[in-house]
Amino acid sequence: MNEDNVILIVDDVSINIQMIKEILNEDKVYKFIFATNGNQAVAVTRKAKPDLILLDIIMSGMNGFEVCEVLKASSETADIPIIFLTAKTESEAIVRGFELGAVDYITKPFQKDELLARVRTHLKLRQSERALRENKKNLERLVQEELEKRRKQEELLIQKSKLESLGRLAAGIAHEINQPLAGIAMGVENILLRTVNKRIDKEYLKHECEFLLQDVDRIKHIIEHIRIFSREQQSVFFENVDIKEVVENALLMVGKQYENHNIKFLLELEENIAPVFGNKYKLEQALLNLLSNSKDALEDKSRFETKLIKIKTYQDTEKICLEVEDNGKGISEEDVEKLFEPFFTTKSPDKGTGLGLSITYGIIKEMRGEISVQSKAGEYSRIKISLPKIINQ
Ligand SMILES: Nc1ncnc2c1ncn2[C@@H]1O[C@H](COP(=O)(O)OP(=O)(O)OP(=O)(O)O)[C@@H](O)[C@H]1O
Ligand SMILES: [Mg+2]
Repeated sequence: MNEDNVILIVDDVSINIQMIKEILNEDKVYKFIFATNGNQAVAVTRKAKPDLILLDIIMSGMNGFEVCEVLKASSETADIPIIFLTAKTESEAIVRGFELGAVDYITKPFQKDELLARVRTHLKLRQSERALRENKKNLERLVQEELEKRRKQEELLIQKSKLESLGRLAAGIAHEINQPLAGIAMGVENILLRTVNKRIDKEYLKHECEFLLQDVDRIKHIIEHIRIFSREQQSVFFENVDIKEVVENALLMVGKQYENHNIKFLLELEENIAPVFGNKYKLEQALLNLLSNSKDALEDKSRFETKLIKIKTYQDTEKICLEVEDNGKGISEEDVEKLFEPFFTTKSPDKGTGLGLSITYGIIKEMRGEISVQSKAGEYSRIKISLPKIINQ
């Protein structure tokens, strides 16, 4: 038994206190404190926080029941076990004592063995209860730590994924700019060649410069778009958005890169479609995420197979729809259910984080839209986004 166990004995007859103390002293490991009335008992308990209280019921002034009630009402003292001291005949009192939260009772006159046994038992119980509580606390702390660790890991992953998609976008943009740049280089070379050969005339020069300017414009256009795109991604600004423009801008960013991967685009963009309400750069990000998934899904196809991505926009009475379909490896029925969950991925860690679709989902929900998927493994995937249509504007 723990040497630190402090027992409070409350009785208004001091000879009783002496008797109890003598019996319990056989164990030689308890410290005793005393109270001879109810008020004193409450005050001593609050101050000393004993491990066990032996409480006489009948006392003048505040009786044992009242002391018990006061102690149980305060969270500081509520869990200190109380054993009532009663006369043998007081069976009603015993019931009342239990109702008030006592753990046990001992009848007077005291039997030595019974008193020792009950006190030992309840002190032991209290000790195990404490140990349990301590364990529970430790467990909760461990769980908390584990959760925190996981949250940090997820944060890192999100950070990594943002960097990766930035990297992917940068690679795409390089392709987009390379094309017109190659055009410019060729044009300038042609002009130089003709100058050397003295076969240059005004008409030719004018014609060639017009071509050059077209390419310069294209590069300017791409760079301007990237600038706004990266800035407006963070914005919460909503406006009427033309979905066709969103598709065209996304292709401006990655179209050539995909074509270099032998991917063919099939565009079915309905003209004069009603606008939707949202942020066009976020919507473009959503579409870029879908396109990037399609590109990955088409990767394993051989050079001799056609790699297709179909982008379709159309409207019905209430909605504007955008579909992205590819004839890539498709999605198994089992995976379809988890598709929009953050961190769900079937790709290797250097290829995918599993955030693309969950981010897309968030963007579409923010615009009060719906996103769904249809697929057949080995054949195709089709992601459909529908957004509320803005009418009469
Ligand atoms: N068009 C598709 N064809 C086949 N599988 C797809 C397609 N789109 C999504 N998936 C499946 O859904 C998973 C989750 O896609 P999501 O875009 O959320 O993450 P990811 O592409 O794996 O990684 P991240 O987009 O973060 O780089 C993918 O790993 C893939 O298995
Ligand atoms: Mg993805």
